[in-house]
Amino acid sequence: MSVQQQNLSPTQEIYKKISKFVPEAEWKIHAPLIEKINKIKKEKNAIILAHNYQTPEIYHGVADISADSLALAVEASKTKADKIIMCGVHFMAETAKLMCPEKKVFLPDMQAGCSLSNSITGEDVKLLKQKFPGVPVVSYVNTSADVKAETDVCCTSANAVKVVESLNVDKVIFLPDQYLADYVAKNTKVKIISWKGTCIVHEQFTGKEIEEIKAENPGIKIIAHPECPPDVIAASDFAGSTSGMIDYVKNKQPKKVMLVTECSMSDNVEADNPNVSFIKPCNLCPYMKKINLKKILNCLENETNEIILDSKTIEAARKSVIRMTEIGR
Ligand code: 13P
Ligand code: SF4
Repeated sequence: MSVQQQNLSPTQEIYKKISKFVPEAEWKIHAPLIEKINKIKKEKNAIILAHNYQTPEIYHGVADISADSLALAVEASKTKADKIIMCGVHFMAETAKLMCPEKKVFLPDMQAGCSLSNSITGEDVKLLKQKFPGVPVVSYVNTSADVKAETDVCCTSANAVKVVESLNVDKVIFLPDQYLADYVAKNTKVKIISWKGTCIVHEQFTGKEIEEIKAENPGIKIIAHPECPPDVIAASDFAGSTSGMIDYVKNKQPKKVMLVTECSMSDNVEADNPNVSFIKPCNLCPYMKKINLKKILNCLENETNEIILDSKTIEAARKSVIRMTEIGR
């Protein structure tokens, strides 16, 4: 190790890793915020959980744990910290609160929603249950606590097929992502009754676009999130949760790869896999991008934007999330 490397401060070490993705002018603003956040989170015994779609300065700069939505739920239940700052979207913070109702959970921006979560309400689920009496409800974790309160068991993209099959029934109501429902239906014999929700990020990718990229980049590995339309999944080499996609790159080290998912994730994964070349025609999630370092610091300093759920909702919704984490990946 050179003397120059030894002398780098922890914050400079972070920049060394992500300098390709964060311009120097921006880093000048980020660096003091990162230092402050990392100091205050220790003083307050807070943990920062970040989804894989967060920007590199959050993912590599301040997150204690970066993960997919299943692992974020599990980590929330295991932490010894008093406070959880969820750098992700609203349903992720609510899920963390359901996993550990005794802890304070904060979301740096309460407007960080999700098109899937917005597509269905608890009342909609009640009506579906009336229409299909006795058919169990499996809800994607990308739903509100009200929807989870009407749900038998939640799932994420990491365990959707396993959760559906764990019920040992021939039919389930699967909410709310129609494309994830298609993906599950292709991988199980269980009949799937779906809903018309979509992710505004993944629905934009097309099979035609993927075929063109494959033709222009012979040998490229295409890795897609199961929220993508069926023709995109069919044109891909692998489909899996965000952490499943990261593991694929880490373990297989393909020469060239395209992650068919949210934009920031490719930067985050590239920083950890410098020998892999990335093709990045990707789409931004406007909800995930509502989170930034300034808002994280504000949350930590002033304890604003706490997730509050009434005890009745917690009691009803918690069971479906716990059941999901018990099934695992
Ligand atoms: P993962 O559970 O795969 O991390 O996905 C969450 C999400 O919101 C994808 O759009
Ligand atoms: Fe929701 Fe899609 Fe954004 Fe994920 S990427 S949080 S599913 S809108």
